[in-house]
Amino acid sequence: MKLFDVYPINDITIVRAKDVYVWDENGVQYLDMYGGHGVISIGHTHPHWIKRIEEQLNKIAFYSNSIKNPIQKELADKLGKITGKDSFQLFLCNSGAEANENAFKLASFHTGRKKLIAFSKAFHGRTSLAVAATDNPAIIAPVNETGNVVFLPYNDEHALREYFQKHDSEIAAVIIEAIQGVGGIAVATERFLQTIRQLCNENGALFIADEVQCGYGRTGKFFCLDHANVEADIYTMAKGMGNGFPIGGILIAPHINPKHGMLGTTFGGNHLACAAALAVLEIIEQDELIEKAKQRGQYLMNELKKIDGLQDIRGKGLMIGFDVIDELKELRKHMLQKHHVFTGEAKPNVIRLLPSLSISRKQLDEFIGIMNEAIEELSPHPLKENFARVE
Ligand SMILES: Cc1ncc(COP(=O)(O)O)c(C=O)c1O
Repeated sequence: MKLFDVYPINDITIVRAKDVYVWDENGVQYLDMYGGHGVISIGHTHPHWIKRIEEQLNKIAFYSNSIKNPIQKELADKLGKITGKDSFQLFLCNSGAEANENAFKLASFHTGRKKLIAFSKAFHGRTSLAVAATDNPAIIAPVNETGNVVFLPYNDEHALREYFQKHDSEIAAVIIEAIQGVGGIAVATERFLQTIRQLCNENGALFIADEVQCGYGRTGKFFCLDHANVEADIYTMAKGMGNGFPIGGILIAPHINPKHGMLGTTFGGNHLACAAALAVLEIIEQDELIEKAKQRGQYLMNELKKIDGLQDIRGKGLMIGFDVIDELKELRKHMLQKHHVFTGEAKPNVIRLLPSLSISRKQLDEFIGIMNEAIEELSPHPLKENFARVE
C-alpha cells in the first residue's frame, strides 16, 4: 500500500536521536535546530523521559476517561505550579489542532456566541474550526468554510477596536499566537495583546492564547503571553508538552464552568501521555530550562545579528526567525544537505529556529560556525561588499 502523499519529504531517514542531534541510517550526524516543528523541548530521548514512560508502560498505558486517573491530577498540579495558574482547570487532548478546536467550542458554549476573531497569517491547525481560523485558503476544504471566523490584521489595534464596536455581542473569542510560528515569527506587541484583553473584558468575549508553538517555556517565560503581563481565559498547548509523545491540552480560567459531556476524548490524557508530559515538566524545572531558553536565545540572537546577509532577526528566547537575502535563498537546503543541520522555514525566505530548550552554548556556537561557512560558500563575493545589512 502507498502512503498518502501529502508531505514534501527530504530524502533522509532518521533512525536515532539524542539531545540536539539525530543520525541517519548511514550514521551521519545532524544538528537539530528545529526539533521536528518545535516539538523537542527537553532534548531527544532524554533519559528521564524514557524512564518515566518505561515505568508507566509496565504499569498501565491506557484506560478511558471513565475512571479516576491520578496521574492526570499530578500533571494538572505540576502545571498549576509551574505556570502560577493553580486556579485554572486542565483538559487534556492529543494535538495542537485538537486543543484549539476544544478552546473554540468551549468559548462558544460559555458565551452562547458564534463569531471568532483570528489574525492574518495565523496557523491554528487542520481540524474543522482550527483550520477555518487558519489564514491559508489552500488548506481549508469547502466543508470547513464558515462565516463565523473573521481575520483581522495582526497588531492592528484600530481594526480590532472597530470590529468589536460593530459586533460586540456576537464575538465568542479572539485567538492569537503571541508569536506566530508558521506565519514567519511575527511578534505581537505587548500593547496589542493588552488591547485584546481589554476588549474581551468589555465585551464578554474570551481570550484564547494559542501557545502550541510559542508556549511551554520556549520564549523564556512559560507562556509567551506572560511577557505582556496579560492573562488569557484559555491557553492551548501541545508541541513541547510531550517532547515528541503526542499530547495536547487547554488551561481554562476558573470562571468557565464545566458540564458533563461538554468536551471529551478517548485517548486524551491517557496514562502514558501524562507520564511523558510529567517527565518534561520535571526536567524543565530541574534543569531550569525556561531561564536557559531566555539566556541562550539572547546569545543566539546576538550572534545572528553579526552575520551579514540575514535580515530582521526577531523572536524571543529559542523561537527565532530571520529573512535571508535573495542571494541566500538556498541557505536552508544547503545547511541541511552539505552541513547536516535541520532548520525550519516560512515562506518565502524566512528561516525558523526552534531548537530544544536544552541546547548548550557550545552547540549554538557550532551552529553559528556552520551558518557562517554555509553563507560563505553560497556567496560569490564577500557579502559585506555587496549587501547592506538591515538591522
Ligand atoms: C500555533 C500552532 N497552533 C496549532 C498547531 C497545530 O498543531 P498540531 O499539528 O499538533 O495539530 C500548530 C502546528 O504547527 C501551531 O504552530
